[in-house]
Amino acid sequence: MTVAVYGASGFTAKLVVGELRRRNIDPMLVGRDAGRLRDTAERAGLPADAVRTAGLDDPGALAGTLRGASVVINCVAPYERFGEPVARAAVAAGVHYVDLAGEQPYVMRLFETLAGPAADAGVSVVPMVNDGGFLADLLAAATAVTLDRVDEVVLVHRLSGLGALSRGSGRTALANLEFFATGGPVYLDGEWRPDEPARTTEYRLPGATEPVPVVKFGVPEIATVPRHVPARRVEAVTTAEVAGLFSSVTPELVESLPEGPGEDVRGSDEFTVVADLRGPGGSARGVLTGADTYGTTAVAAVEAALRLRAGGAPAGVLAPAQAFDPAELLTAMGAHGVKWT
Ligand SMILES: NC(=O)c1ccc[n+]([C@@H]2O[C@H](COP(=O)([O-])OP(=O)(O)OC[C@H]3O[C@@H](n4cnc5c(N)ncnc54)[C@H](OP(=O)(O)O)[C@@H]3O)[C@@H](O)[C@H]2O)c1
Repeated sequence: MTVAVYGASGFTAKLVVGELRRRNIDPMLVGRDAGRLRDTAERAGLPADAVRTAGLDDPGALAGTLRGASVVINCVAPYERFGEPVARAAVAAGVHYVDLAGEQPYVMRLFETLAGPAADAGVSVVPMVNDGGFLADLLAAATAVTLDRVDEVVLVHRLSGLGALSRGSGRTALANLEFFATGGPVYLDGEWRPDEPARTTEYRLPGATEPVPVVKFGVPEIATVPRHVPARRVEAVTTAEVAGLFSSVTPELVESLPEGPGEDVRGSDEFTVVADLRGPGGSARGVLTGADTYGTTAVAAVEAALRLRAGGAPAGVLAPAQAFDPAELLTAMGAHGVKWT
């Protein structure tokens, strides 16, 4: 059975479809607008009957459509508004599920509301498969195995390509503006605490000679790392410039963005994730670098979806590191330029 892509007319979705085609997989293209889906099919060299129209307002019809696939990659934006109906339809249809969400509140909600139904249905639901939270979650897990015990995890994100935002990402930032402005919760002693400040206020990034100021950052892996790394404290930070971008977008700015960055811009759009872990026996650092955030996201989504299709992941809503072998998947991402230690 094939892979379905929901929201297949979107910017990142088209990269996902391209990545599937590169691997000789003919996906089913699903979404609300037949014309835009046909355009995606034509550009990807797929026949018109690859297209299935199903909106979010008819859950039964959506589940019926997804039933023809073994896994769905949900590419809507923003997930805060449009993600859940597709996840619910996948569970109802018995179809494994992957999405690209960078939205911590949405990811948290899937764990709270869909874990039981997904487990009962035998379906694996893996949100936040992208260049950010997904890789950070896997990196934290792959680093944690080098320590006997972990007390504290600090995740640090650096992005260089701040001009490389897609319109869908801009709309997503707008839909979560208040959340991004707070920096989100810190995980401490078994609870996610919104008012807890980050302890890390400056950080010397790999390769830098001087530390730079950093601020709390509402990334999705804060919702997942504590589910598999038994630490007392998990916090995430980024540079003030990156946090400012996500908490200051305006509707005017978002609508002035192109559908997505061109290939020239994408190539120079670099990211670094550091996972600093401390325990009573010492500390360990995982470092990951890559470029082309949207292309990397598309490859990650396909790698994850194909692993779910092959079987072996547990049922339920899962952190990336609960669904996949962290080191194996990080190493597989090396084919797309992701390097990690
Ligand atoms: N590191 C990260 O966190 C990361 C990296 C990459 C992507 N992402 C996330 O991935 C998402 C997709 O981004 P993008 O730039 O590809 O977005 P996009 O180009 O705007 O695509 C959004 C898709 O959602 C569909 N959609 C929107 N509203 C809908 C509705 N009411 N019913 C059905 N379908 C609807 C659109 O369909 P129509 O064409 O019919 O409008 C389109 O196919 C964003 O949330 C982005 O933040 C995150």
